[in-house]
Amino acid sequence: MTIHAEPAFPLATSSWDEAEYAAMQRVIASGRFTMGPLVKQFEADFAAEFGSGHAVMVNSGSSANLLVIAAAVLDPDIDLNPGDEVLVPAVSWATTYYPLHQYGLKLRFVDVDVDTLNMDLDLAEQAITDRTKAVFAVNLLGNPNDFGRLEQLCRERGLLLLEDNCESLGAKFDGRAAGTFGVMGTFSTFYSHHIATMEGGVILTDDERLFQTLTSLRAHGWTRELPAQNFVHNKTGDPFEDSFCFALPGYNFRPVEMSGALGIEQVKKIPSIVAERRKNGAHFVEAMSSVEDVRIQRETGESSWFGFSMILEGPYAGRRLEVGRALEASGIESRPIVAGNFTRNPVMAYLDAEVPAQLRGADAVHFDGLFVGNRHYPTESSIDQIRDILLALR
Ligand SMILES: Cc1ncc(COP(=O)(O)O)c(C=O)c1O
Repeated sequence: MTIHAEPAFPLATSSWDEAEYAAMQRVIASGRFTMGPLVKQFEADFAAEFGSGHAVMVNSGSSANLLVIAAAVLDPDIDLNPGDEVLVPAVSWATTYYPLHQYGLKLRFVDVDVDTLNMDLDLAEQAITDRTKAVFAVNLLGNPNDFGRLEQLCRERGLLLLEDNCESLGAKFDGRAAGTFGVMGTFSTFYSHHIATMEGGVILTDDERLFQTLTSLRAHGWTRELPAQNFVHNKTGDPFEDSFCFALPGYNFRPVEMSGALGIEQVKKIPSIVAERRKNGAHFVEAMSSVEDVRIQRETGESSWFGFSMILEGPYAGRRLEVGRALEASGIESRPIVAGNFTRNPVMAYLDAEVPAQLRGADAVHFDGLFVGNRHYPTESSIDQIRDILLALR
């Protein structure tokens, strides 16, 4: 049997303590495991934490993204239909893109700003065509987009703003939570993220109609969880009929009660988790100021610092493998930044996409980018160690 030793500085660490384990024990004792009151309470707590009207919990951030696109396309009041174009950044996770493909939308890729790692908004503005109907903005690695500018752009050009905030729980722009700027915003609560519910995802929205659509789409497209009078399909009043009325082409993306129970405990910790990550972020920025030619992510608003990205330039350029090995030798895990320049992935063969001839920012991320994890507790000595390893390689 091979025993893999845990690295000294892994990409992710658990944010659970006795509170989460006790919450799981209570679920076991209750005997109720499928989606129920604990998921509902988590949703209320999560929405309140971010000042949003509604939260819908699902079984992953990827499912959250799929439901958001489904709801937008199915909504008769939203002008987003198969064949329309959606602007997406060239660096994000695979399941930011797939739902667009699955709903017949065309992906119009926009390069990222090499400093913020979010969509370059000058290029986004230039990329808009007559067929562009929406922007699926992604807040990468904890860093919010410049929503002042992005909201204005969407307003002026009549575009729907949707947000993939799966990597940036707790980030803020102008004092407002990332994930609440879009008409809908998604979160992931998978292990490596800011809070963890085993698997899990959440959608925030202020729109009552979309909330009801999302609730229906999450569970088979039925109307069972909706009020008698609703925007999807009014009930008859006969529970025998109303429990098996299918109104929308939906999915089964329900989370389990254990995830709801974990979420309730995790939400309480969000302020301290984000504050500690931000303190580490400040230390990383300070430490890396002495390492020339390693470009780190520039914060827009208040980042919740998912991890610490580095793009190798000057004497470091082309040496990512060597840097990764040197970090690994000291027990520091590193990995590529999200999925690099996504348009370089073979799955592109399946997607209807418009890709610019040059994606300089995304290519810098793809070929010379790597990132290390952050923590919800102080980790200054490891950050100093990363700086020293880089200085020694210069
Ligand atoms: C930007 C982004 N969107 C969506 C997801 C999907 O979340 P999940 O892993 O919970 O499906 C991730 C996952 O890390 C992500 O980074």
